[in-house]
Amino acid sequence: MSSRIAVIGTGYVGLTTGVCLAHLGHTVTCADIDAHKVERLSRGEMPIVEAGLSDVLAEGLASGRLRFVVGAAAAVAECEIAFLCVPTPQGDDGSADLSYIEAAAAEIAGVLPKGAIVVNKSTVPVGSTKVVERVLQRPDAHVVSNPEFLREGSALNDFLHPDRVVVGADDRAAAERVAALYASLGARTIVTDPASAETIKYAANAFLATKLSFVNAIAAICEGVGADINDVVDGIGSDKRIGSAFLQPGPGWGGSCFPKDSRALVKIAEDAGYEFDLLSGVITVNAQQFDRVARKVADAAGGSLAGKTIAVWGLTFKANTDDLRDSPSLEVVQRLLASGARVVAHDPTVPTHRFGVPEGVDLVGSALDACRNADALCVLTEWDAFRSVVAADAAAAMRGRGVVDARNLLDRGAWTAAGFAYQGIGR
Ligand SMILES: NC(=O)c1ccc[n+]([C@@H]2O[C@H](COP(=O)([O-])OP(=O)(O)OC[C@H]3O[C@@H](n4cnc5c(N)ncnc54)[C@H](O)[C@@H]3O)[C@@H](O)[C@H]2O)c1
Repeated sequence: MSSRIAVIGTGYVGLTTGVCLAHLGHTVTCADIDAHKVERLSRGEMPIVEAGLSDVLAEGLASGRLRFVVGAAAAVAECEIAFLCVPTPQGDDGSADLSYIEAAAAEIAGVLPKGAIVVNKSTVPVGSTKVVERVLQRPDAHVVSNPEFLREGSALNDFLHPDRVVVGADDRAAAERVAALYASLGARTIVTDPASAETIKYAANAFLATKLSFVNAIAAICEGVGADINDVVDGIGSDKRIGSAFLQPGPGWGGSCFPKDSRALVKIAEDAGYEFDLLSGVITVNAQQFDRVARKVADAAGGSLAGKTIAVWGLTFKANTDDLRDSPSLEVVQRLLASGARVVAHDPTVPTHRFGVPEGVDLVGSALDACRNADALCVLTEWDAFRSVVAADAAAAMRGRGVVDARNLLDRGAWTAAGFAYQGIGR
């Protein structure tokens, strides 16, 4: 059954939600406060890098079931269900800042049709459905939690083929109406109370961050004892109880969600009377990983970074996105700059003069351009294109012969054969 839907916020989550719900046959009005973004989306221009999404955007616009407007109030006037997909950044004390959620709820409170359902799709701490209810002051409207689990880079696929759909509500009928939106996806649906739905989202992100910090810690041990992390991961990951997903060592984890969500969960735990030392340790291990990678680059450049030119491949927090928010690459780059290095970087989705790149980084148009006269090379994002750079070409461009492959992406044999001193992670 088709529903009339409003989506507030057209970022990675809201845009994916809006175009996909239109794709599933619903009538969707998406709102943002950014008028320029709304204008571009209305013309079918995709403001983010996300595979396949522009086709579904075009399909939605052509069908007449998808439109974009400025301002939340303009979107909800005729809706049955309104999704809040606005940011929940980290607050000063580590907790999630709910001011965007509260502002959006306040904007729609007076215009929301009678009996409409408001859905928290943003990642929000336990108790946030109550926060929205309090702001709305609309006893006729139900507030439902429906956390989003998509991964940037595969958002479309993840939305249309979810491992599960989680819906949390005090009102069973409201939960079922939200769950019904996804019925055609055939996914397992977990209907629960709001606190459990909200906890599921934080626990999932914290667990994934834990896996990553764990494998980076094991990689450090591998380096100390002469083991190879690739074989170790193969060995532990083939145990079905463990699984191999999220066991790739790297420069540390980041992105727009894990850092803020893990800190928020530490705070949620603290407020609930539990010291979440395990997760605090996971966060500490991650910061140590940024330091470890920066130290490897110093080693690769001959022991000190002062006055050295470092080629950096990859700035986004992962491949197949243009998102730089809380990118581990930038954490490492900042450490290199602070130690006196000159950083020349290339990323396939980061154009020169892009907002969010630390001052002092020279952005260039190709991986080989970044290597010109570099004392060392550091691979920080796992872009596939970097695999195919010929090691001898990089050697010809560079002054030094040190390479730090923080994603274990390159062919170690080929780079060693080309004269490089290769350092990976955990091998
Ligand atoms: N990015 C992800 O991979 C991901 C995955 C799962 C969950 N989440 C969660 O989803 C939420 C949104 O994340 P995102 O990455 O899509 O954020 P984003 O920053 O990419 O997008 C948020 C959008 O909301 C708009 N906005 C802010 N206030 C508004 C208002 N009052 N009315 C209309 N629009 C408004 C902004 O202009 C922006 O376009 C966060 O809570 C995040 O933690 C994100």
